[in-house]
Amino acid sequence: MPSKIRHFLTLADVSAPELMALLAKTAECKRSRRRHHAALAGQTVALVFQKPSMRTRVAFEVAVLQLGGSVVYLGQDDIRLGEREPIKDVARVLSRYVDAIVARTFAHSDAEAFARYASCPVINGLSDGAHPCQALADLFTLQEHFGRLQGLKVAYIGDGNNVLHSLAEGCAMLGVTLSVATPADYKPQPGTLGDWHEDPRQAVKGAQVIYTDVWVSMGQEQEREQRLKVFQPYQVNEALLKGAAAGARVMHCLPAHRAEEITDEVMESPRSLIVDQAENRLHAQKALLLFLMTRTKTRSR
Ligand code: CP
Ligand code: NVA
Repeated sequence: MPSKIRHFLTLADVSAPELMALLAKTAECKRSRRRHHAALAGQTVALVFQKPSMRTRVAFEVAVLQLGGSVVYLGQDDIRLGEREPIKDVARVLSRYVDAIVARTFAHSDAEAFARYASCPVINGLSDGAHPCQALADLFTLQEHFGRLQGLKVAYIGDGNNVLHSLAEGCAMLGVTLSVATPADYKPQPGTLGDWHEDPRQAVKGAQVIYTDVWVSMGQEQEREQRLKVFQPYQVNEALLKGAAAGARVMHCLPAHRAEEITDEVMESPRSLIVDQAENRLHAQKALLLFLMTRTKTRSR
């Protein structure tokens, strides 16, 4: 009997032991890109993206190819999701053709709709609510750099957005202390708030890692002017880093807007783990595909 389909819409879709196993598998995939080179032979993954992407798209495409599978990319102009036809029809039909779907949506409920109607695993490649694939790579990067996760302190400074939601979920699962500083009107969703501060200088105290993301996420462009004003005190710069632990490192999911949420000086400094973090998307996404796609040995077609 084929085992039950697993989706990956948020980190809550895996248990803490499964998350640790995913990080171990990520390390294995990073050590050898050729390992598992035929694991997805004969399988196809569809990437259905309503928003632009560089890292997520390329990491998944390369991961699938290195695992011996094939990819179909469907941008918003290709299928006009929700406009030309409803998500439930796309999900039902697409999953008769392919073996897994990576969906990048605006509303998180659209990613959930994909999972509800698809008959294959659905991976959230970023929604307005969560970015669990990013968090996998982020947790791996922390473990790779510090040799541990338990007891680390990460400070997230900026917008209470999708990236923070998934980072917070992962930190809570694996014993990383997370402090957060956002403007009062831009707090993360309830439940992921943790140790919240309005003043970024409070949040960075004793932190070994400072994490930030854009102030204007995709889909919020009409709020840009207002956001740039409100978020000014939340810039990650050398002055803010002086209040963190000595030698604190900096993370950013990318793309970054220099001179907005982070200075060029900090981006280019030896403190930055940002490019390693981006590279690790490839290895982490490969581990995730192996976890979701090789546990169901047979599909009934
Ligand atoms: N970090 C991230 O998801 O980047 P892309 O939007 O380029 O995929
Ligand atoms: N918060 C950003 C992340 C991009 C990877 C956005 O949603 O646009």
